[in-house]
Amino acid sequence: MANLIVLGAQWGDEGKGKIVDLFSDRFDMVVRYQGGHNAGHTVYIGEKKFVLKLIPSGILRPGVKAVIGNGVVVDPAALMQEIEAMEAAGVDVRGQLLISNRAHVIFPFHRMVEKVSESREDRVAIGTTARGIGPCYEDKIGRRGIRMADLVSPQGFERLYRILSEDKMTLASAFRVSETIDFDKILEQYKQYTEKLRPLVCDTATFVNSAIRAGKNVLFEGAQGTMLDIDHGTYPFVTSSNASAGGACSGSGVAPTKIHGIIGVSKAYITRVGAGPFPSEIEGPQGDQIRQAGNEFGSVTGRPRRCGWFDVPLLKYTATINGFDSMIITKLDVLDDLTEIPVCVGYKVNGVTVTDMPATNEEAAKIEPVYEVLPGWNTKTKGITSLDQIPSKAMDYLKFLESQTGVEVGCVSNGPERNETIIVPGSTLARLLG
Ligand code: GDP
Ligand code: IMO
Ligand code: MG
Repeated sequence: MANLIVLGAQWGDEGKGKIVDLFSDRFDMVVRYQGGHNAGHTVYIGEKKFVLKLIPSGILRPGVKAVIGNGVVVDPAALMQEIEAMEAAGVDVRGQLLISNRAHVIFPFHRMVEKVSESREDRVAIGTTARGIGPCYEDKIGRRGIRMADLVSPQGFERLYRILSEDKMTLASAFRVSETIDFDKILEQYKQYTEKLRPLVCDTATFVNSAIRAGKNVLFEGAQGTMLDIDHGTYPFVTSSNASAGGACSGSGVAPTKIHGIIGVSKAYITRVGAGPFPSEIEGPQGDQIRQAGNEFGSVTGRPRRCGWFDVPLLKYTATINGFDSMIITKLDVLDDLTEIPVCVGYKVNGVTVTDMPATNEEAAKIEPVYEVLPGWNTKTKGITSLDQIPSKAMDYLKFLESQTGVEVGCVSNGPERNETIIVPGSTLARLLG
């Protein structure tokens, strides 16, 4: 067995939650390393639907530790809500969940800052999830943030909170924010969360490293996707953390030498929520058809997801950034009714092939996608449980993605349920999963 990172190879919502939940019974713990409750990882177990935002998807497996790493930003109100919902569903949250003492804390005024920034007339809105994620990371990088260790410290918290809230009051008056913020009320609320969260807060880097030394297996669960990574994504239309594989190490305190495999999760097509370039976006009724077939509506904000065709140059790019050992193709079943399936196999700008991912949105907007059209299989793949039952044209499609991207398809998902997943026998992924 091995320590694996499972992360998004596109713009998020690739089905990471389903995959992490499925794999987690083979692991001792699942660690989230970045993002916050902007993530929405949907897991179906029979009739039951769980949408995990902050808590790692491993929590749904009894006995598996679920660790919120130092790279995550935590909104205590959102976390408390999620804990209560999980407890109501019979999950032993208090026996399984740990929160890093170095994770930064989101406050309501972070959402205020985000609102100001998103509504400025001189800027194109990013279309964020409005959860205060970016402004919290701003305070972290600005070295004025408040961490879980501070929150649970009886002496330190109020002093740090007063300093930070003074900053925000100055900002609110500079931007003529009309909304009134009751800083004292927030302080009191947060003190209440503290009492409940304190027993779960610890040095998770030490905990995870000790477990690794003791021979335990760790699964790192990415949130968002590589194209939303603050450094490697379509900046500024990105989130504010490192969703790519490198983030797993800095966001958990586990060294790269302890990671044995990196697995990219990708849909058989592609989606994006929020603004920003999207070369293979499908305009018009066909996009609507895929949105309906794939139920492509955001699990956090309910926004319709923009849909597009599988993008090979993008996948090659994210495979390079992350060093994928294997790729998991999800939502194959969503394409079941199509007679033809275009795949974006190249980018051109002014008729000239480009091989590098453009760094600016101006350049990205000029991309003319080059398509190769593959025949659809027009047969139901949902319910199929072994590779040899997959229709030959669907296999050809998967083989095409594999050969074009240069990354093996180690697993295929053909429905939201745990049993609607086929691990390819003999693949690197199968070997890594032991
Ligand atoms: P995540 O953020 O990467 O965990 O993905 P989301 O949960 O936001 O979105 C993926 C959605 O697709 C969820 O509603 C899943 O239940 C669903 N899903 C995952 N895999 C499959 C699949 O293979 N087929 C279908 N039809 N739905 C899937
Ligand atoms: P999961 O983990 C899809 C997008 C937002 C917006 C941009 C910045 O479920 O895949 P933020 O609130 O993070 O500052 O918003 O990032 N975004 C996601 N899109 N899936 C997600 O998470 C996302 N988390 C953030 O829509 O475009
Ligand atoms: Mg999601």
